[in-house]
Amino acid sequence: MGALGITIALLVWVVTLLLISIWKQIHSSWNLPPGPFPLPIIGNLLQMDIKNIPKSFTRLAKRYGPVFTLYLGSRRVVVLHGYEAVKEVLLKYKNEFSGRGEIPVFQEYKDKGIIFNNGPTWKDVRRFSLSILRDYGMGKQGNEARIQREAQFLLEELRKTQGKPFDPTFLLGCAPFNVIADILFHRRFAYNDKTALRLMHLFNEDFYLLSTPWLQLYNNYSNYLRYMPGSHRKVMKNVSEIKVYALERAKENLQSLDLNCSRDVTDCLLTEMEKEKHNGKPPMYTMENIAVTLADLFFAGTETTSTTLRYGLLILMKYPEIEEKLHEEIDKVIGPTRIPAVKDRLEMPYMDAVVHEIQRFINLVPSNLPHEATQDTMLQGYFIPKGTVVIPTLDSLLYDKQEFSEPEQFRPEHFLNENGKFKYSDYFKPFSAGKRVCVGEGLARMELFLLLTAILQHFNLKSLVEPKDIDLKPITVGFGSIPPSYKLCLIPRS
Ligand code: HEM
Repeated sequence: MGALGITIALLVWVVTLLLISIWKQIHSSWNLPPGPFPLPIIGNLLQMDIKNIPKSFTRLAKRYGPVFTLYLGSRRVVVLHGYEAVKEVLLKYKNEFSGRGEIPVFQEYKDKGIIFNNGPTWKDVRRFSLSILRDYGMGKQGNEARIQREAQFLLEELRKTQGKPFDPTFLLGCAPFNVIADILFHRRFAYNDKTALRLMHLFNEDFYLLSTPWLQLYNNYSNYLRYMPGSHRKVMKNVSEIKVYALERAKENLQSLDLNCSRDVTDCLLTEMEKEKHNGKPPMYTMENIAVTLADLFFAGTETTSTTLRYGLLILMKYPEIEEKLHEEIDKVIGPTRIPAVKDRLEMPYMDAVVHEIQRFINLVPSNLPHEATQDTMLQGYFIPKGTVVIPTLDSLLYDKQEFSEPEQFRPEHFLNENGKFKYSDYFKPFSAGKRVCVGEGLARMELFLLLTAILQHFNLKSLVEPKDIDLKPITVGFGSIPPSYKLCLIPRS
């Protein structure tokens, strides 16, 4: 090696040492949680498996403990892993960590609506939306009746498949789609309606793309990747199209708005907008904010429940003995014809446990949505500066080895006691918890129970491959865990 080579090597060595010492000083003087040393520009990219970021978090937690710091690009991120740390962030310091970490691909929704809102309107829009959803969910024409009615339409469509193989994605998706469409827009769509199928395609494609490695890269390195071609552009286009649909509905409702008689959630939001016009304050319910709120609820209210139902049926095909026990319980408690009702759940501990186990096992949103520190906060002896992105992982609770005897296995017994009664677990947090807890938890749980029960009351599931050959591994893991595509046959039970 010549003199020049040695000088360069020495220089690189000195600069690296300097960077490490600066970084250590920042870390120790600020008392940030520990973590791997980040490189300039890429941060800790080399420590991450972008094909499965949640798994990388689990690996890093083994090394650095339940609270650790990462740099994803230039963003400082603190990851919480395990029951104590996650609960502390979500419940003990619920206000301090109630901000929403930025998700660059949703730039168009940023600081509007509910999900991606980290601005001053979030609290009020969330509170108001929750109260309207509660009003529409209760009473005779509430969510139970709404889901029961939709279950009948779903069964009718499923019967039309006549025991032949079909891909259940959009047929199953139509049920939660119509339930939320009725709440938001007072509308229901035929199962072959072009607009409904187009919107469901957008939801489905976005949820898939958001879970691919490229989108993990994009969301953490958007400053560098913004102008590159790639599937982030497709997601943004879809997100825009969903908002345009919601805006059109809002404009249409505005034409015939009766301030004293709301037909749906859209009317309630528009009525708030009209009331605001007279209070002299800066407007919160603008048409733009209303459209994003509706789009948030439409997307989140459809794709999550739809994917859970689809994944659930695939799991039950792999375990015919579990399906058989469910048929027995349904026959005993409900019989062959009565429409399943919410009250039946109390007498159906096995179905209740299966629905919980499906949600635990599929781990739909493994790393939760990113939160953000709204103020400087001390957490487990570490300093978390305001503006830090905070990730309270949900898979670390759902796959906890102490709480669930065989977390990698699908076992309804995880939610049953020795007498066969339903067993509650405080680690069951697929909807998160605290100030940002899922707005649709009650609705989703009711849908999963009533729709799965109705399907199994009327059909036997038949797989096209041997049950033991069914692979339950998600095809991609990122924002969500996406189930493999499959076809099945539904054989009428009577
Ligand atoms: C199986 C079904 C569902 C699952 C697993 C699920 C899960 C989640 C999770 C993990 C979050 C993030 C919570 C956090 O940031 O801490 C969330 C937020 C949210 N969910 Fe759901 N969800 C489901 C169904 C629904 C439904 C049916 C709706 C609509 C009616 C909905 C609307 C929302 C909204 C609006 C937020 C944002 C809350 C906020 O940022 O304040 N979700 N959901």
